[in-house]
Amino acid sequence: EKDGYASFMLKEIAEQPRAVADTLLGRVAEDGTLRLDEARVRPEVLREARKVVVVACGTAFHAGLIAKYAIEHWARVPCEVELASEFRYRDPILDHRTLVVAISQSGETMDTLMALRHAREQGAHVLAICNTNGSTIPRESDAVLYTHAGPEVAVASTKAFLTQLVACYLVALYLGQARGSTDGAEIRAAVRELARVPDALERTLATMEPVRDLARDLADKRTVLFLGRHVGYPVALEGALKLKELAYMHAEGFAAGELKHGPIALVEPGLPVVVVVPSPSGHRLLHDKIVSNIQEIRARGARTVVVAEEGDESVVPYADHLVRVPAVPPLLQPLVATVPLQVFACALATGRGNDVDQPRNLAKSVTVE
Ligand code: F6R
Repeated sequence: EKDGYASFMLKEIAEQPRAVADTLLGRVAEDGTLRLDEARVRPEVLREARKVVVVACGTAFHAGLIAKYAIEHWARVPCEVELASEFRYRDPILDHRTLVVAISQSGETMDTLMALRHAREQGAHVLAICNTNGSTIPRESDAVLYTHAGPEVAVASTKAFLTQLVACYLVALYLGQARGSTDGAEIRAAVRELARVPDALERTLATMEPVRDLARDLADKRTVLFLGRHVGYPVALEGALKLKELAYMHAEGFAAGELKHGPIALVEPGLPVVVVVPSPSGHRLLHDKIVSNIQEIRARGARTVVVAEEGDESVVPYADHLVRVPAVPPLLQPLVATVPLQVFACALATGRGNDVDQPRNLAKSVTVE
């Protein structure tokens, strides 16, 4: 079943271009408008929602963090992102004009299920983003948008995460379309760019050899830090989570803007720091700020692993290791920038002799509290 791959995880990483293409399939009409009627979100909810609250756990929560940027940008609705395990024990302010988006690969995660029950009791409308047909979370939601990643067997989520991102972008655009906050031309342009992502992913996957070499090199390190800004910040969190769960290493993701507020004290000679650099064609100032962050940590001896867009030459002098990802629109960068971090964690874990499909202490779906 592994189709010649050494692990399900490697197979699932390789399947990502297809998973993304399948999740887009049939969701865009000929005229470039979004067709998510299958999800059955009531039109008045789309038009009149005053707030979106995303609830999820783990990797799905990271997809939710990225959704916030897309929802604010395209839908112009306030958006909160909550760990399901925290949300369900709080007293959140929700009503029938709140759209709750519950993201779950398995559809069985207990905390996410409890969070959506909590939300529905208060009259909120719940849309599930889920990869498993007929599972509990979509059954108990008002609406569902399925991701089409296919079965994910490895415990660590890879292709499901990328398809959750695609679903989140589609929901943000769909809200923008229904509310008139994004015009047709911008929606068509975004959809065209999404359709190019599978190709960009193929190109990314074809250039991962240096990442595997680097991982072998770093197999005896104790800690790896990850930095990002804007949508690169949740990517940094996801890179760190992959490394913890697979390589059993201490790893932490930070918003690069927080460095000076504490984390920079951790930097010492030889410490590997992975930095996700935003596209220079997006928010230029943001890009330049992260380049100066890279200079700062390197001056303190960090070994910098820089993930940057093809053609971004400004990072070259400060990168001990440079990982290139294809240029995509700034909001979509997580779709390509996550891939090297998955490959890195998988290779590092393998180098340490770990079973990447069945990491210790973890289960594929967490149906207990
Ligand atoms: C990490 C991972 C977990 C899951 C989390 C939520 O690689 O797989 O963090 O993302 O347990 O699971 P689902 O999406 O099934 O609700």
